[in-house]
Amino acid sequence: MKILAIETSCDETAIAILECSGDEKNAQFRVLGNTLLSQIDIHKEYGGVFPALAKREHAKNLVPILESTLEEAELLHEDTQALSEETRAEIATILSREPGLAGAFFDFITECEPPSIDAIAVTTGPGLEPALWVGVNFARALSLVWNKPVVAVNHMEGHIMAALARRSESGGGTSEEDILEIKDVEMPVLALLISGGHTELVLMKEWLQYELIGATRDDAVGEAFDKVARMLDLPYPGGPEISRLAELARSVESSVPGSRGAPSSDEGAPRDSILGIKLPRPMLHDASCDFSFAGLKTAVLNLLKTRVDITAVEKQHLAREFEDAVAEVLMKKTSRALEETTATTLVLGGGVSANTHIRRVFTHFEDTRCPHVTLRIPAAALTTDNAIMIGLAGFYHAARGDFTDLASLKASGNAHLAP
Ligand code: KG4
Ligand code: ZN
Repeated sequence: MKILAIETSCDETAIAILECSGDEKNAQFRVLGNTLLSQIDIHKEYGGVFPALAKREHAKNLVPILESTLEEAELLHEDTQALSEETRAEIATILSREPGLAGAFFDFITECEPPSIDAIAVTTGPGLEPALWVGVNFARALSLVWNKPVVAVNHMEGHIMAALARRSESGGGTSEEDILEIKDVEMPVLALLISGGHTELVLMKEWLQYELIGATRDDAVGEAFDKVARMLDLPYPGGPEISRLAELARSVESSVPGSRGAPSSDEGAPRDSILGIKLPRPMLHDASCDFSFAGLKTAVLNLLKTRVDITAVEKQHLAREFEDAVAEVLMKKTSRALEETTATTLVLGGGVSANTHIRRVFTHFEDTRCPHVTLRIPAAALTTDNAIMIGLAGFYHAARGDFTDLASLKASGNAHLAP
């Protein structure tokens, strides 16, 4: 089964084409084409994603990206296609709210054969609703002209599947690099999903059945990273910048024996560091599996108010302390959730799972304290938003015949994976 996947939930416009085989328990995916266009440089000057701009960029980029992805997949065959007046009018209505997209769409679609794909998978939420709609309407228009069914994919489910996917060791294709597989997944799976808009612990008891175990009560982790980075005058997105500074501080600290105080796990009684930068670990001892990061962010703000000029070294130590606080809370809550759910597979997913320190803390935890739990972390290229992850999740739904009719296909900014 060939799936064309579309992702436009935030500031990445992405399309991928996957050839999927096997079944839920043992699935293989050959990546035939994959294009990702990041808008980071455009949003940087606003210090965050500007929804109207994201929407405009998606509308501008989708057709060129579709063309190049089909070409890469060797599925682009030029041929003049006639469109009935009725279809034209229907598509014009579907794309009426995406400026510029209809013109490019008609030009492209009337000059190529319908490609040999079996389904279209598209992110319908969660995310920025105006951005999501561009992808959803594009998928509806393609579905109409090419007569292909559409799978509605939850973005967070995509992050889970990306973490479960591993590069195939057996290969079997011309390029081993491009074959992924999802197999040997032991249920239940506990997923810690950490991204710009989400921080949640979700349990997958069976394939595609989810239960919410814990969630942030205020800011998402990625949001906290981005806001703290802004306070430190670091560019958007802040996560990678904080990580870079924190790693610098750690490399210096590790070369100075005894330079740091012993870690403390007490909320309100944080550790000392050589620069005396101390941050709280919010809700560490709370009995739930919920999180809170707003207080941590405010603690950074208050700390910065007490320093007129923060030096480069202090910034590094602050970044390190912030990361330590986040990682400690994430680890503690996940560990609690593992105990409560008796999950045997732990997934780390979402953009923040790219974080070197968080990956290190979780890997260490698996190695030392939880050998009975298998940790699955996405490959670097699949960590932040992409369309491959949407194709992976799309396969599981398409294999069950779980398609959505065009009239009910909608974008939903705050779609939930689990009740
Ligand atoms: O999943 P994602 O690409 O988009 C959303 O669905 O939100 O996640 C983006 C978030 C941003 O907040 C970004 O700062 C954060 O992931 N991020 C990181 C790192 N790389 C990206 N946070 C911490 N460390 C990183 N290395
Ligand atoms: Zn994401």
